[in-house]
Amino acid sequence: DKGNHRHFMAKEIYEQPVVVAQTLRSYLRRMENQVALPDMDFDLAGVRRITIVACGTSYYAGLIAKYWFETFARVPVDIDVASEFRYRDPVLEPGGLALFISQSGETADTLAALRHARAERQIIAVVVNVPTSSMAREADLLLPTHAGPEIGVASTKAFTCQLAVLAALAANLARVKGRLSPEEEAEIVYHLSEAPAAMNDALSHDEEIEAMAHLIAPARDVLYLGRGQDYPMALEGALKLKEISYIHAEGYAAGEMKHGPIALIDDAVPVIVIAPSGPLFEKTVSNMQEVQARGGKVVLISDAEGIAAAGDGCMATIEMPRVHPLIVPLVYAVPVQLLAYHVAVAKGTDVDQPRNLAKSVTVE
Ligand code: F6R
Repeated sequence: DKGNHRHFMAKEIYEQPVVVAQTLRSYLRRMENQVALPDMDFDLAGVRRITIVACGTSYYAGLIAKYWFETFARVPVDIDVASEFRYRDPVLEPGGLALFISQSGETADTLAALRHARAERQIIAVVVNVPTSSMAREADLLLPTHAGPEIGVASTKAFTCQLAVLAALAANLARVKGRLSPEEEAEIVYHLSEAPAAMNDALSHDEEIEAMAHLIAPARDVLYLGRGQDYPMALEGALKLKEISYIHAEGYAAGEMKHGPIALIDDAVPVIVIAPSGPLFEKTVSNMQEVQARGGKVVLISDAEGIAAAGDGCMATIEMPRVHPLIVPLVYAVPVQLLAYHVAVAKGTDVDQPRNLAKSVTVE
């Protein structure tokens, strides 16, 4: 049932504040100002290295989590797409934590990678949305997302719920590693609890984003740029757009532009820049200006401060609420998803069932 929405994808984008809140409820103890994980029969504090494996959008959630595990807990993270991990004979020290992220819990490559990691004596943690799935059954530590069934082929609400779980896991790991004071943990709990309201604010820009879809729909190629944890969001934006609108799109680390892709820039290639204000803002904006100097048409996604500082000269801007860096990916996922959705609707493609794609990829 699509409710009032034309497509499951739109319904699922709109469900995000509710399902993220639902997911966070099982990972936050608001009264104690603490994050909480299910019981586990291994020592989390003893984890010295994390290997993350996933595919597609779930892989991008993993890339964002890598920033969090490394900055908050100072635990080194190795990350791969599942189809590569399996065949590169990765070096896995016994007792390492292998973390698998999957909406369906049945993706063939991810499941095979899990079994490989098990054979290599890794502790198996899984973030999955389907609690009865193969991955859920084979895990030592099951970290469920509570997104509810996701019907649209393009993953939306499962992604933001994965981020919520991964943020809680990062904070928990940081605490047991002695890297998070009770005050810092309380602050994280506070900001995570604010995420659903901030996501509602992001959703309120829907009509504006719909109105700018015609600026993107005629393009043959679109670039997405971001830095730091916003770089995986650029990758996710490009994936969303290409899979449902069939427009060729690439995500790039903003600083990599001048190492090649800037050669593509002309006024027919829209560039979506994801740049919340913060320590990396100036750097990303200078990459954005290099694009503009070559006639590139930019859509800037930032907060009021960022747009005031750098919005002039952009083809369009999308204003997000100013939020703590930890919840930026949860909030900025919304305009990225809405933009892909409205461009696809403008082009008349089959949003919920894109050609050549299956919801769950159970073959290698
Ligand atoms: C993109 C998308 C896919 C999946 C990927 C992994 O919108 O939906 O890229 O993210 O096939 O699927 P799961 O998470 O079920 O393992």
